[in-house]
Order: sequence, then structure tokens, then C-alpha cells
Amino acid sequence: MSQPGLPKYNSLDEALNAIRGLKDDPLANAGTNIVISRGNPQAKILLVGEAPGPQENIKGKPFVGPAGQLLDKILQSAEFDPEADVYITNSVFRMPPGDAGKNFRKPNDKEIEFYRPFVFEIIRLMDPLVILLTGNVACQAVLQKTGITSLRGKWIEMDRRWLMPIFHPSYLLRNQSREPGSPKSLMWEDIREARRKYDELSGA
Ligand code: URA
Repeated sequence: MSQPGLPKYNSLDEALNAIRGLKDDPLANAGTNIVISRGNPQAKILLVGEAPGPQENIKGKPFVGPAGQLLDKILQSAEFDPEADVYITNSVFRMPPGDAGKNFRKPNDKEIEFYRPFVFEIIRLMDPLVILLTGNVACQAVLQKTGITSLRGKWIEMDRRWLMPIFHPSYLLRNQSREPGSPKSLMWEDIREARRKYDELSGA
């Protein structure tokens, strides 16, 4: 599950240091900070997000703004401790600067492609059993396809790992309904299924 085009690192720390030292990445000139991960690098679940937003850019950790607070609640609802049971990273490691009056935007294809080999090195070296891909950007980075509405909730086996696309928590912040079939209720089903798979794979 690693990709050509990047030297292989010997440890996760070595890969994280290489990412921290990036100077020629497509967002280097944006002047935003490198934000890579939080949580437990020994965890058996990796969650991949999109890119840092303004709060993450300031604090240097992924998912610490409003979407991150919701993400923590979702994980906790399935009795995952976000700091102990999960390692959290992104598909793109700097906040893409905004245009049209917004202070950030979605990452573009070129940015996703540049950081992809580093995301795959994190996966290889962290060696999770389960990977949750939040939203279309993470699906594009790891699966090289999008279509979250049909991908979500379905397991994909890749090199002995189990990957599941789930909605991005920001999408849930924009869709508050809890009716059956709503994004929130589907997320609830998906995180419970992730818990079931995790228990099965880890022999809990
Ligand atoms: N959204 C993401 O996908 N990642 C973050 O780190 C913050 C918000």
C-alpha cells in the first residue's frame, strides 16, 4: 500500500520529520503551517481527513475546530477514545488559502496528488487495521475515486487493511437532521459498523 515516487522511510517519526521539513510542496508559498496528525500512533484505527482549516493551522493539529469537536463526539459515541484509540491525519498537510472572501478552500487535484505518497507512507508505517476516510478528498487521496454518497458505509479490503469511507463531519454540521436516512443517522450506522469490525479484527 505504498506508492512509487517517494523514498521509503524507516519509521513513522522519520516520515513525519520529512513532512515537517517540506519546502517545495504546492502550498509552501501559501504561508500556512504544516499540520500532520494527532492521537495515538500505536492505535489500530487511522482516520484520514481533508486538510487543516483555520483553527488547525493555528494549533498545529488536525480536527481541533468545530468539525473536530463533532468528530470526537462521533468517535466517543462508539466508545472510541479519540486520543488513545485513533490516529488522525489529513490528505493535505497545509491549509489551502481561500479566495472569494473565504480564508480557506478545498484542496485541488494537484495538491492531493503531491501529498498522497506521504499519506501512504503514514499508512504503511503506522500499520492500522482499520482506516476511516472522511469525505471525498480522503477517498480521492487513498482510493483515487470519489462519490462519498455511494461509497460510504462499505468496506474495502486493501493489503490486509479494512477501509471505510464515511461522511466528513463538516457535511454533518451543514445537515443537522436526524431523520432516518439523513447524513447524521447514516454516520451513526457507519461508526457502529466500524466499532464492530474493529472488535472483530482486534479479537475484543
Ligand atoms: N477538516 C479536515 O478534514 N481536517 C482538519 O484537520 C480539519 C477540518
